Amino acid sequence: MNEALVHLKSIIAERRTVKPDTFSGELIDDHFINQILEQANWAPTHGYTEPWRFVVYKGEALKRLGRFLADYDQPDPEAEGFNQIRYDRIANRPGLASHVIAIAMKPGTNPKIPEIEEVSAVAMAVQNMWLMSHALGLAGYWSTGKVAFSDELRDFMALDDSHQALGLFYLGKPGKENPKGRRITDISTKVRWES
Ligand SMILES: Cc1cc2nc3c(=O)[nH]c(=O)nc-3n(C[C@H](O)[C@H](O)[C@H](O)COP(=O)(O)O)c2cc1C
Repeated sequence: MNEALVHLKSIIAERRTVKPDTFSGELIDDHFINQILEQANWAPTHGYTEPWRFVVYKGEALKRLGRFLADYDQPDPEAEGFNQIRYDRIANRPGLASHVIAIAMKPGTNPKIPEIEEVSAVAMAVQNMWLMSHALGLAGYWSTGKVAFSDELRDFMALDDSHQALGLFYLGKPGKENPKGRRITDISTKVRWES
């Protein structure tokens, strides 16, 4: 097998979801974040709509993001059941990362390109970022849940309502060995060949 192929296969297979609570706490130089974003821009895009949009949070902005996430989770601090421990855990999570890249989709105007294609293109852009992060020895995690697709997250990102929020990509330096990858079923169970 040629060397590039060996590297490509290992980058794809060894990329992992690495949660922020295992990050080392060290900061990543912005230069690497720009390299990661550059690769996102090479995702395939039907009609060159290039629908991926990102907002990068670092430093103090991670605290603002954390407060937003915790407030969204428990919008009424006076309500019965308010859980300070849970609030703090959610509020502090972005600060465990070096950078958090909020992900959004801005659809093009061509009616022949449905939204599902635009979301697919953004997912490919995120995969590019994730693979690039792994190749740089960094740890990444795409976080979704209810807030990920909310108008509130889109507003927090200061994007207008032509955009759809699609979650958060946490980036940090790994604090421990990557978790072991696993798949429940073999690819052969998900493919049917016809000839
Ligand atoms: C679109 C998308 C959203 C995800 N959202 C979450 C999430 O909210 N919480 C979580 O723990 N993992 C999330 N993940 C990561 C998956 O749990 C992870 O990819 C899966 O466990 C396989 O692990 P691996 O990425 O290390 O191969 C998400 C992955 C994708 C592709």
